[in-house]
Order: sequence, then C-alpha cells, then structure tokens
Amino acid sequence: MEERTVQLTENGKVIAELPIKTGTMGPSTVDISQLYQQTGKQYFTFDPGFMATASCHSAITFIDGEQGKLLYRGYPIEQLAQKSSFLEVAYLLLNGQLPTQNELDTFTHNILHHTMINESLKMFYHGFHYNAHPVAVMIGVVGSLSAFYHDSINVYRQESRIISAHRLIAKVPTIAAACYKHSIGEPFIYPDNKLSYCGNLLRMMFAVPCEEYELNQTAERALDLLFILHADHEQNASTSTVRLAGSSGANPFACIASGIASLWGPAHGGAAEAVLDMLQEIGNVSQIDKYIQKAKDKNDPFRLMGFGHRVYKNYDPRAKIIRDTCHKVLNEFSNTSDPLFELALKLEEIAVTDDYFIERSLYPNVDFYSGMIYRSLGIPSNMFTVMFAIARTVGWVAHWMEMISDPRHKIGRPRQLYDGAVSRDYVAITER
Ligand code: ACO
Repeated sequence: MEERTVQLTENGKVIAELPIKTGTMGPSTVDISQLYQQTGKQYFTFDPGFMATASCHSAITFIDGEQGKLLYRGYPIEQLAQKSSFLEVAYLLLNGQLPTQNELDTFTHNILHHTMINESLKMFYHGFHYNAHPVAVMIGVVGSLSAFYHDSINVYRQESRIISAHRLIAKVPTIAAACYKHSIGEPFIYPDNKLSYCGNLLRMMFAVPCEEYELNQTAERALDLLFILHADHEQNASTSTVRLAGSSGANPFACIASGIASLWGPAHGGAAEAVLDMLQEIGNVSQIDKYIQKAKDKNDPFRLMGFGHRVYKNYDPRAKIIRDTCHKVLNEFSNTSDPLFELALKLEEIAVTDDYFIERSLYPNVDFYSGMIYRSLGIPSNMFTVMFAIARTVGWVAHWMEMISDPRHKIGRPRQLYDGAVSRDYVAITER
C-alpha cells in the first residue's frame, strides 16, 4: 500500500513531507521524527502536556475517549471486570494473551510465592516518622528494592526483566500493607501464600498478631475488581514517567518508584483521596450549589475532584462499573447511609446536568467512586493512592517491558521552546 504523507508548507513552499502512521485502531499519527532534519534543523514541534502527541508504539491498552471505551489487549474492560481476576488480567497485560489454565497456575504460583520482603528492608520503615504520608514511604521503600536485587540488574536480558516484573507485582502488596501498619503503629503482618493476591493484602493490612483474622469475600472480590480497573490506562502521566525513566536503561525498581511519585498528584491517582477531602469539605447537600459555582469560577482554583479526564470526553467506563459495585459493597458493609456517599451521588446528579460540565464533557472518572469503596472497606483516604499503585504496578511493568524489548526504543529526550534570556555577559557581583 502506498505510504500516506502530509506536507508542511511555509509561505506556499513545502518544507517537509511527513509519513502518516496508522495503528490497528484509533486516530492515525503524523510521524514527525524527521522534521528537524527535513527542515534543515529549523523546526521542532511544540506540544506541552502531549495534547496531540503519541509518545510511543504500544499494543497493551486501547482507549476511545469519545466513545468511553477501554480495552486491555483487545478485551473490553466490562468483560474482564465481570469474568476475569486481577492476576489473570496481570498475565494478559504482561504477555499479550489470556493464559491457559496451566499458564495461569504457574504465574499465580510465581506471584504468590515471592511475597516476602528482605528483613532488612523492614528497617527502612522505622526511619520514617510515624505520620509520614504512606505514599511517601512507599516511594522510598519501592525505590530501595533496587539496592537488593543485583542478580536481575541487566534490563537487556529478557529473563532478568521477567524476574523483576514478578518481584515487583508480588512484593508491592507486602510493601503497601507495611506502609499502612507503620502509619498506625501496628506490627507488620507476614504474607500468607495460601491466600489470594487481594485476600493476602487485606490480611496484611487488617490482621493483628493477637487475634484471628477472618477474610471477608465481598471485600476480597471488590478489591480484585478495583485492581482490574486500575491495572493499566496506556500513556498516562505515571506510565509515561516510568517509560521515560526506564528509557535510559535505569533500574526497574527505581523506575516504578518514579511512577508512584507521579501517580500521587491530585490531578492523577491522588484524585481519590482529594475526592474524599472535597466531600468532607462540602459537608452536606445544601452546600453543593456553592461548590459547583466555585468549580465554574475561573478565578477560583477549586475543581470538582473526580470529574474530567484528558482522554475520556464521555463517561469513564471504569466509573460506570465501579458505581454499581459501590452500591453492592456499601450494602454488604451496611453503610448505605454513609452521608458522604449520598453527597457524592447528589453531586454527580447535579454536575452531569449542568451546562458547564456538559459543554466541557466533564463526567465522573474512576476516582470519583473508588475512594468510596476503599472507605467502606475500612481503608483510610491517605492509603488510596497506595492501593492504586499496587494495581498500576502491573501496567507500569508491562509498559516498561514492552519499551525495553522494542528494538526501535530510544532514550526519551524531549526538546523545548526556549524563552529565557538571550546570550549575555557575566556581571561581577560588585557591579550588579
Ligand atoms: N472541575 C471544574 N472544571 C474543570 C474540571 C473539574 N474537575 N476539569 C476540567 N475543568 C475545566 C477546565 O477549567 C477547562 O475549562 P475552560 O475550557 O473553560 O478553560 C476545561 O474543563 C478543560 O480542562 P483542562 O484542565 O484543560 O483539561 P485537562 O485534560 O488538561 O485536565 C484533568 C484533565 C487533570 C483530569 C482535569 O479534568 C482535572 O483536574 N480533574 C480533577 C482531578 C481528577 O479527578 N483527576 C483524576 C483523573 S483520572 C486519573 O488520573 C486516574
């Protein structure tokens, strides 16, 4: 098939002819990688915030933001949420296809039998003040894994990459639960490899050595579902951070720590915690109008947290699934009368019928509801991003592996539009 191109003209003269690249789904891209050379080193492109820039090839996750569609390796998120499990989804994201029973059993065994962390890693926690934010602790401890695994340091060996991937997915719940235990001053609970991925996490978070712990299956399944929904979301800020950090060949544990740091921001994974803070600040239904007006006021920095998304200009499909689960979980934990949930529903009802939000396609996103579920499971709001990071570790690792094993991959190195001082001479301090 003949290659399609677009021409860039300046004053009617063609200065560059750029190939159009088309994937299997979604908009085509204009390949501008030769633009600088073709224009005689005259032009870069300018797109801060990546409003219209594809940063890489990827075959992991597809989003159609206009339709509100999300596919992992081609499978609709709705089907995976209903029929699959988090570890099966993890296998799918890492390997590209659904596992056979044998493949799933082997993968599950690998993950569930590498859950312990080095005893000396536990000392790191004690260096943090008791009231340190759990995400800050998690960034430090996950990053410090890079000091423990010198045997799998060569990122250019596929075997090393797989070992690092399994270690990260297996150990991140243990690290996360210890972040929580440290923050509340309780002893760390060792993992129990007989339990499921999420069952083990719940036990490590909520069991105490002096009492029997009974696992609640609704909580276990709700967590598994939330993890499926949060496992990947293509080139978002934290995934792009992991890719950029990893593009230099950096240690994978350090790269994942950088992803957690990026996820923490309230415009990204920190939104679930910010939603709860916002609902608490709004306080009751009579205040909603005031806050909707604040969100619409350009001179007020307040935004409705949990609303809007860079890619979805329709209802976030994950939010739809979570919304239903939210009712079920709240029912089971007899929390239906949670005033914050009532407030959230009312806020949603008003916001989705308000012209400001309709015109800008601002719908509730996944984090509008996830915090509510975590809260009903007894998980405090400062742990929400930690929970998100456990699930997203799978996506980060899948993207990191895809990038490193792609022979076309290069170190990421954006350029800039410099608008600082022009060249000038140094002035001695006595003459300034
Ligand atoms: N409340 C009020 N107004 C909003 C909101 C909001 N939550 N989000 C966007 N807008 C408005 C903007 O003011 C802007 O209005 P204008 O066109 O009149 O200037 C317009 O909608 C477009 O907003 P942008 O900031 O340009 O959109 P962008 O794609 O850059 O931002 C983002 C997306 C960061 C998610 C934004 O919607 C936001 O801040 N939402 C709240 C935080 C949040 O929930 N983040 C979680 C995202 S999901 C995730 O990461 C897992």
